[in-house]
Amino acid sequence: MSGTTTDRDLRILAISGSLRAASHNTALLRAAQKMQQGGLDIEIYDGLRAIPAYDLDLDAPGLWPAPVADLRRRVTEADGLLIATPEFNYGVPGVLKNALDWASTDWAGTGEVPLRGKPTAVLGASPSHFGSVRAQLALRQVLLGTRTDVVTSPEVTVMRSHERFDDNGNLTDEVTADLLRDLLSALADKVRRSVVH
Ligand code: FNR
Repeated sequence: MSGTTTDRDLRILAISGSLRAASHNTALLRAAQKMQQGGLDIEIYDGLRAIPAYDLDLDAPGLWPAPVADLRRRVTEADGLLIATPEFNYGVPGVLKNALDWASTDWAGTGEVPLRGKPTAVLGASPSHFGSVRAQLALRQVLLGTRTDVVTSPEVTVMRSHERFDDNGNLTDEVTADLLRDLLSALADKVRRSVVH
């Protein structure tokens, strides 16, 4: 993270755990991007589909598959992360957990662990009444394991997500929009504090 963040926008990498074209979780990240809240410059990660299944034999500088090297670089260079997770079978979708595993290691002892200490906010959406709350608890447990610095509040669990967007995937629900703004402000505060200390 170069330069002090007070004199520039905060670079946030937003990752959706869904590959679905009409994903509600990806739509949440697009809504966050439009809000331009708290000086956050949000880039939505588009490489999740290309990340191969984790292979310890390839987890080293020079051996990483290109999409993995790109993901590690983008996580490292971001000032913070915004992760929107669906809930698959009461947990984190495999494609998202797999990507997090690739960004959680430093077997070569370079001291560069992309996820370690990274200011991060989590949220999620589901058509069910539980709004991905189980998956978010599971995601928080994973991010505890990666020593990632996660915003604790507010929790943004978008239930009955099919009712929160219009036909073009625009967020129309004001309560969700307000919660999203609060989450983005909390993330901006955490990023700024992380630079000071
Ligand atoms: C689901 N879904 C689901 N939803 C939920 O609230 N709890 C769950 O345990 C599950 N389990 C589950 C498993 C699998 C394999 C699929 C494909 C789906 C429904 C899921 O929340 C729904 O498809 C969301 O719309 C996925 O998020 P996106 O793609 O809209 O971002």
